[in-house]
Amino acid sequence: MHFHILPRVDDGPPDIQRSIDLARAAESDGIQLVAATPHLREDHPEVRAAELAARCQELNAALADADVALEVVAGGELDVLWVQEADEDDLRLASYGQRGTDVLLETPYGAIAPSFDAAVERLQTLGFRILLAHPERNRAFQQAPDRLLELVRDGVLIQVTAGSLVQTRRRSRSHELAVQLVEHGMAHVIASDAHSAGEFRPPNLSSGVAAARAVDPRVASWMVLDAPLAILAGEPLPARPGASRPRRRA
Ligand SMILES: [Fe+2]
Repeated sequence: MHFHILPRVDDGPPDIQRSIDLARAAESDGIQLVAATPHLREDHPEVRAAELAARCQELNAALADADVALEVVAGGELDVLWVQEADEDDLRLASYGQRGTDVLLETPYGAIAPSFDAAVERLQTLGFRILLAHPERNRAFQQAPDRLLELVRDGVLIQVTAGSLVQTRRRSRSHELAVQLVEHGMAHVIASDAHSAGEFRPPNLSSGVAAARAVDPRVASWMVLDAPLAILAGEPLPARPGASRPRRRA
């Protein structure tokens, strides 16, 4: 649901061979279907909504030729300022499967400014359901998780990154918030946010799913299969399997 695999457009693979390598790494990790979500953001002018379908088609053909069993559907990672400036056609072309129902909105890296609220409002007013990308990495949400609760109550879905769920030696606020979100039933999707088959953000979805399973065994596969498939289909999410009892307040 969050995967940078299109070649030569953003900070994902620099060429088609590296895209194929990334797809192969995803296949080895047990992934069968990904949404290509290049950055629709000012600093990546090569990403144009009108070209996304053709780019995905080209990549799918290259993957079939290379015998990689991975399907790629169109999507985009929408920057809040891009959302403000895009016309409605481009917003639809940047939505999952270009269905015009669901979009992936990038959490800003700095403060949660009025531009963020304005982007959420514009998308919701136009009828889009929002999947919010990796809010656990944002300092403001780490310090005030209740802001996320408000968004969830307002219909926003939350994507946590697989890598954030995996415990590391160093204390990580991203990890702590990602785990809290799963514990409290506030996360809807686990995604890899993969960028390469190498060191830089590899597709380690399975390790994130295993980490989520350790937090709540009932909800991990819902977050990586049932909820994502409903989003790709533009349908209501199926009921979340019973959440575990919270151990502490989020
Ligand atoms: Fe991303």
